[in-house]
Amino acid sequence: MSEPSGQELYERIPTKVFEDASLAVCEVAKEIAEAIRARQAEGKSFVLGLATGSTPVPLYRELVRMHREEGLSFANVTSFNLDEYFGIESRHPESYHRFMREQLFDHIDMPEAQINIPQGAVAREEVFEACQAYEEKIEACGGIDVQILGIGRTGHIGFNEPGSGPHSRTRLVTLDRLTRLDAARDFQGEHNVPRYAVTMGVGTIMDARKVYLLAWGRSKAEVIKAAVEDAPVESLPASFLQAHSNAYFILDTASASELTRNKYPWLVGFPEWTPELARESVTHLSLKLGKPLLKLVDKDYQENGLSELVTEQGPAYGLNIRVFNEVQHTITGWPGGKPDADDTYRPERALPARKRVLVLSPEPQDDVLAMAATLSRLVAHGHEVTVAYLTSGSLGVPDEEANWAADLMLEAGDSAIASDVLRELEEKGAFSEDSPRLRTFKSYLRRNEARASLEMCGLSKSCIRFLDLPFYEKGRYRRFEVGEEDVAAMSRLIDEIKPHQIFVTGEAADPSSVQAKSFSVFENAIRSFSSEPWYKDCYVWLYRSDGREWDIHQVEMAVPCSPDEVKAKAQAIYQHRSQRSQLPSMNADQSEAWEQAVERNRGTAVLYDKLGLAEYEAIECFVRWSTVKGASK
Ligand code: F6R
Repeated sequence: MSEPSGQELYERIPTKVFEDASLAVCEVAKEIAEAIRARQAEGKSFVLGLATGSTPVPLYRELVRMHREEGLSFANVTSFNLDEYFGIESRHPESYHRFMREQLFDHIDMPEAQINIPQGAVAREEVFEACQAYEEKIEACGGIDVQILGIGRTGHIGFNEPGSGPHSRTRLVTLDRLTRLDAARDFQGEHNVPRYAVTMGVGTIMDARKVYLLAWGRSKAEVIKAAVEDAPVESLPASFLQAHSNAYFILDTASASELTRNKYPWLVGFPEWTPELARESVTHLSLKLGKPLLKLVDKDYQENGLSELVTEQGPAYGLNIRVFNEVQHTITGWPGGKPDADDTYRPERALPARKRVLVLSPEPQDDVLAMAATLSRLVAHGHEVTVAYLTSGSLGVPDEEANWAADLMLEAGDSAIASDVLRELEEKGAFSEDSPRLRTFKSYLRRNEARASLEMCGLSKSCIRFLDLPFYEKGRYRRFEVGEEDVAAMSRLIDEIKPHQIFVTGEAADPSSVQAKSFSVFENAIRSFSSEPWYKDCYVWLYRSDGREWDIHQVEMAVPCSPDEVKAKAQAIYQHRSQRSQLPSMNADQSEAWEQAVERNRGTAVLYDKLGLAEYEAIECFVRWSTVKGASK
């Protein structure tokens, strides 16, 4: 028997990491197609277990493509979906019945009679029997051959929330608050999200002959690490898959980023000690031991798996100083560059002293969540700042907010539009989709919030653009599709401004999110400028607005904030009235978006302090796109 590799020592389940979700799904789709065809050749049927949510969307697109272009038939396939919200009709826009039709069943040749999805619309007293019947039907069909799974941030598979036992079967369950928050946008507000669901049990899933759990985007990174590397526990149902003999985790690089093999590669093998990796491991060591960088000694390195590094690049003191200086040089109060200063070790160039700066914000609020203080500084330092809101954000406005605004208008005597809006709100009920008129009304709310917010950062209205990108206006959450018109609109804006600096986000977000779609629009648009002289002189800075900050060793520009700037930032975020209590909280602790953002920035300042650098109130941070893997620049 061969020795387990370093990676295997940490990972308790076979895990495959792909550069992005599209490459990953190609492989899974290929294996499913081969299995279906093999059964076809034997004249037998194939039983496929299916999931909903954002994660399997690219897989279903690929299967549909294979059906259309490669003649893959699903005539011999019987499917069983994992779950359905309880208490909603199958025609509800967010029902999993409807989702499956729109994403898969309407586009392939699977006979209607072979589709099985738990019923959400049964009477409560009939649920138990319906669940039993579902189990019996799976068994009667010979059991599930391949089960596709996503994973929730609670660690759920299907809707088996923390506390679900490894032998649980199909049943009615109560959804975790974090799961309901994650679904809040789909349902236009948390209070519309069903409280219960019917789900296959963990035991039902474990009975499948093969299981693929898919996960994309950084928001899944922590839960993936726990499911793959920690001992199985009821508080993380996905971890029970470790006991399955044929289960595989299929990840993109972002969702795999917390795995030990990526986060601490020196613990699983013999990495090449690049300056970046040295910086990562030395900052990690300092934080782990609670010792400032400059106090680390050879022994600290040797006792913590870093003897190779210290032998190669030490002694400790020299290595410490090198890393200390690198981190020190990331700090700047001049995010647009400091004129008349030596910029050799500064993150930004001194010249031109007055830069054209373009801030791209996927939805209103992303910008201020991540960089309100930096924005204020850029304006105060005289740069020409334009903030472009790429999408209207109308889908994120709960009905109550529209109601509030329409009531106000009515009282002020502006009755025509207000009455129409109020009538629609009353008629549509909680579960219908908004009409284009209502969406436009909601987008005006967000525009006003965005203007009020930017005013707090010193930006005048003339510096704000609303792009209302078509992918968003035509789409719904989790189902956006970027087109050429989106890229054209973005290209026009970039071409008009010819910026020296671009601030953008979304490069590692869940591929179905507004942030990831917006980033792909940007990426496609910027490509056409790669040979333009102005672009050669343009720095693209990435920011993060999704609640997860850059790791400390990645940061390339750290902009400190004074206590007053922190207060002003909170105020700027607070202007996004319709979003209060809306943003999915990291830990369902109900803290508001502004609190979370400020806490994050304070957290970064604490880390800098712990490393032995200056102690600031808070820090906003950025990474240059050119240094991120896959960047074209
Ligand atoms: C869906 C399901 C859930 C999702 C999970 C992840 O049928 O059972 O477990 O897979 O909530 O959702 P997304 O993919 O939207 O992140």
